[in-house]
Amino acid sequence: MPQQYTIATIGGDGIGPEVIEAAQPVIEKAASLSDAILKWDPQPYGASHYLETGETLPEPAFEHLRDNVDAILLGALGDPRVKKNEHARDILLGLRFRLDLFVNFRPCKLLHGPMCPLNTVDQTRPLDFVFFRENTEGSYLGRGSSNNVGTPEEEQISEEVHTAPKVTRIIRAAFEWAEKNGKTLVTMSDKSNAIPAHRMWGRIFEEIGTEYPNIEKEHRYVDALAMELVRDPQRFEVIVTNNLYGDILSDLGAQLVGGMGLAASANVNPESTGLFEPVHGSAPPLTGKGVANPMAAILTGALMLDSLGIEGAGDKIEKAVTRALAEDIITEELGGKLSTTEVSSWIEEAI
Ligand code: IPM
Ligand code: MN
Repeated sequence: MPQQYTIATIGGDGIGPEVIEAAQPVIEKAASLSDAILKWDPQPYGASHYLETGETLPEPAFEHLRDNVDAILLGALGDPRVKKNEHARDILLGLRFRLDLFVNFRPCKLLHGPMCPLNTVDQTRPLDFVFFRENTEGSYLGRGSSNNVGTPEEEQISEEVHTAPKVTRIIRAAFEWAEKNGKTLVTMSDKSNAIPAHRMWGRIFEEIGTEYPNIEKEHRYVDALAMELVRDPQRFEVIVTNNLYGDILSDLGAQLVGGMGLAASANVNPESTGLFEPVHGSAPPLTGKGVANPMAAILTGALMLDSLGIEGAGDKIEKAVTRALAEDIITEELGGKLSTTEVSSWIEEAI
């Protein structure tokens, strides 16, 4: 009997719905070849729903996603009609925080050599590393205060929060993943030379690291790491860092391997419903034109199938996308001429 999985989809805003719709048959195909059946559960949340109803993510919907589905696949959130993007904050950050999805897993793997913008990479060696971005605290809690707003003395205070259990679990997750995937180097990044609160990351990293004697550990200040990711990205394997630095560096990493049109991410906690989203945004100018690159959403689907334990499915997707890139089955943004669905249908066939 094939196993059935319920996947909620939140297409969201801009190109979000188009890329999710294009990715669905591809993901479904890969799953079916591994004897899994996906049942889609579309959810209406996003800017339009918010503007029509005033709701971002209502409580019953949150509970439904928490309790009744196996995974959530999200397109993109962000719409010029919602000036402060409060719906995106509620839905995306809300799900990350409330489902306690503490691992933001963002792989950066060069699938097609010529797409790397650096002429210094060695095309005979892999460029393949992953970010473990802490996803539940740091600068993202929105804690702080404002004083004298609108006066020349205005002061905005934003607090960064790092707590030992949360730093411990993300560092442990990075080491565990490294060990399971045959990696031998974990890099931890912070800014402890300027921000004293970051020193705790170093202490915990060292302590947990002793449990993984076969893995080499190193520390990089985030500024130096940004430089080194450009100078020699091929030396990295696993990078673990706080929420904000992971956000920033993962865009850098995405560009190293072909840009936002290819960057996938998973927000996970083994105890919760996972949330899977391409790293790219809603790209309002591209919306509705059929030109958005569906590859990030498709590769995000691969992460989702892997995380659900559907063996071999993620790999099939990655191989098919790699072939598409090699054969120039690409949208405008990568220099091609094909439409969103032309690319996704080709990948589906290739699988
Ligand atoms: C990301 C995005 C989000 C983040 C924004 C939209 C809040 O940039 O997923 O990387 O900062 O986490
Ligand atoms: Mn980001």
